[in-house]
Amino acid sequence: MKTLRVGLEDRGYNIHIGHDLLGQLGQLLPRKYSTACLLITDENVDKLYGKEVEKSLTNHGFHVAKAVVAAGETSKSLETAARLYDCAFDHKMDRKSPIIALGGGVVGDLAGFIAATYMRGVPFIQIPTSLLAQVDSSVGGKVAVNHPRGKNIIGAFYQPQLVLIDLSVLKTLPPRELRAGMAEVIKYGIIWDKDLFSFLERNLAQLLSLEAQIIEEVVYRCCDIKAVVVEQDEKEANVRAVLNFGHTVGHAVEALGNYELKKHGEAVAVGMAVAGKISVAKGLFDELQLERMKRLLTRVPLDVSLPPEWEKDKGIELMLQDKKASQGKINFILPEEIGKVRIEEISASELHNLL
Ligand code: GLY
Repeated sequence: MKTLRVGLEDRGYNIHIGHDLLGQLGQLLPRKYSTACLLITDENVDKLYGKEVEKSLTNHGFHVAKAVVAAGETSKSLETAARLYDCAFDHKMDRKSPIIALGGGVVGDLAGFIAATYMRGVPFIQIPTSLLAQVDSSVGGKVAVNHPRGKNIIGAFYQPQLVLIDLSVLKTLPPRELRAGMAEVIKYGIIWDKDLFSFLERNLAQLLSLEAQIIEEVVYRCCDIKAVVVEQDEKEANVRAVLNFGHTVGHAVEALGNYELKKHGEAVAVGMAVAGKISVAKGLFDELQLERMKRLLTRVPLDVSLPPEWEKDKGIELMLQDKKASQGKINFILPEEIGKVRIEEISASELHNLL
């Protein structure tokens, strides 16, 4: 097992990364909590790993209530949140009772939102089970539920007290989810670490077949980058925005497909290719580097072209409604070379021409 620290003073925490770690949860918990705890998971993950996690907690003296939500984005709602607050009350959770998220990004965001708000905040533990959640959403404290008018509109920055990444669970992840998670992995290479990008070029097949050492190395490097970025800018005042590379167009692509046609990572792959193209058009990025970037994404395979449901005007309208847009300008993360990006504001009219 490898351990990374997210250094955020009194809000700092460890990320443990390794194989077969679920059963060690009880002993790895960082502090003494109240014995009542709430385990939040979804119906798919529960069938596979619910018992093992519950047993580890029970063996360490916890009295566990388990809340199982429907799998999928629709669970990230205020209605589901209301049900979970009831579970916490019924289980007599107090301010030292931990909430444990066992699942992918939806479960992590939802459980984190409950942890941030129940009694103004209770301890929060992340056990991410998708590649995307392991390398991105479980680290850094972004928690939220959706509003009918927008994704992640109601939320907070609320750091977990431990992230436990068990790489063995990726064996049961549907292949499409694994490929979607690869988009976020490749993102780190482009925004921050050209050596990671080259490593991915050389080891993609081993990574996709979950070769133990390779997957451990890659997840560790991604979490390390995320930790460094979050330490510098916890609440996205500046540098943290680079983690949104590919997300400006990506979120619009997801929304235009009603969050059904494209998975988040798949939409981010398209968004990264579009951002690369914009960067080339603005003379900031080399065409050959763009091709190199697209080649790696395509090898996963991830589709990098705008999907049939894409409509430019609606897409730009959605980008203007995004949390990151302000005063008619849209924030874009544009690559300058593999391993380095810059943040640029682009107006809606310029974007019309560029797209
Ligand atoms: N997923 C981007 C961030 O955590 O800032």
